[in-house]
Amino acid sequence: MDIITRIKELKASNNAVILAHNYVTPDVQDIADFVGDSLALSIKAKEIQAPLIVFCGVRFMAETAKILSPNSEVLLPAPDAGCPMADMATPEEVAKYRQAHPNAVLVAYVNSTAAVKALVDICCTSANADKVLKSLPPEKEVLFLPDRNLGTNTAKKLSREMTLWPGFCPVHNRIQPEDVMRIRKQYPKAKLLVHPECQQEVVALADAALSTGGMISYVAKSDCDEFIIGTEHGILHQLRKANPTKTFHPLEPLTTCTDMKKITLEKVLNALEKHEEKIELPVELMDKARKPIERMLAL
Ligand code: 13P
Ligand code: SF4
Repeated sequence: MDIITRIKELKASNNAVILAHNYVTPDVQDIADFVGDSLALSIKAKEIQAPLIVFCGVRFMAETAKILSPNSEVLLPAPDAGCPMADMATPEEVAKYRQAHPNAVLVAYVNSTAAVKALVDICCTSANADKVLKSLPPEKEVLFLPDRNLGTNTAKKLSREMTLWPGFCPVHNRIQPEDVMRIRKQYPKAKLLVHPECQQEVVALADAALSTGGMISYVAKSDCDEFIIGTEHGILHQLRKANPTKTFHPLEPLTTCTDMKKITLEKVLNALEKHEEKIELPVELMDKARKPIERMLAL
């Protein structure tokens, strides 16, 4: 029996739901019940309350699913699929900051560990960072962590001062303005979409800076039929599937998140067969980490 049939069988017999991020490989996206960005996947995990969730993404995303669906078994098929940016803010450092700045509001991008979420006031994703920041009183001191680029881009857009944690996504931070200018010359008619995890100099050259879900909606609504995509190239699969008549060019050199690519069909099958690796977090930690996520979702 081929691997996809076996995955489908086990999924059905376990009443499992497969969630996949837009960055995983096309074959994994195609066996998922739902493919989306961090915000959409968090909402989905909360809504479905399936007994078993196989999360095809990186660890912080699977942790968020577990926190929002504590009664579901949540599996991460590649236990070593992490997010280097999430690891750039440790709970010890964040707790130290909190102690030194008792009046500050701590805003954590969802690309952070569960232990860090448990220490902050509110979360945000790249899809709702503006909304979350706007919900905070203007006079409040804000610490935004861990992504200094998303923080800078949002602060600039809202003309709001905030302290930025010095973290960054190695995948998006690598994109240089020269890469953008070169490809712009090559495809002058194309709209250029980038992720707000890119540096502000790159965002300044783009037509829009959007979450991965935001890019998919933008393209669907746009009259333009050619796009340059400045984010992890896994998203090109969803864009091409949904828009077969439009043309998409990835930014060069290719932006690859090696952690997202650790999820393979073989590992998804293994996860379903052996129920590995289960996301297990202390209940008390999950209760604390749920609050800032729920605050974000309630906006
Ligand atoms: P999105 O929330 O836009 O899908 O981004 C997640 C991510 O990890 C970007 O690097
Ligand atoms: Fe983390 Fe960057 Fe990979 Fe997103 S693309 S999961 S931020 S390393």
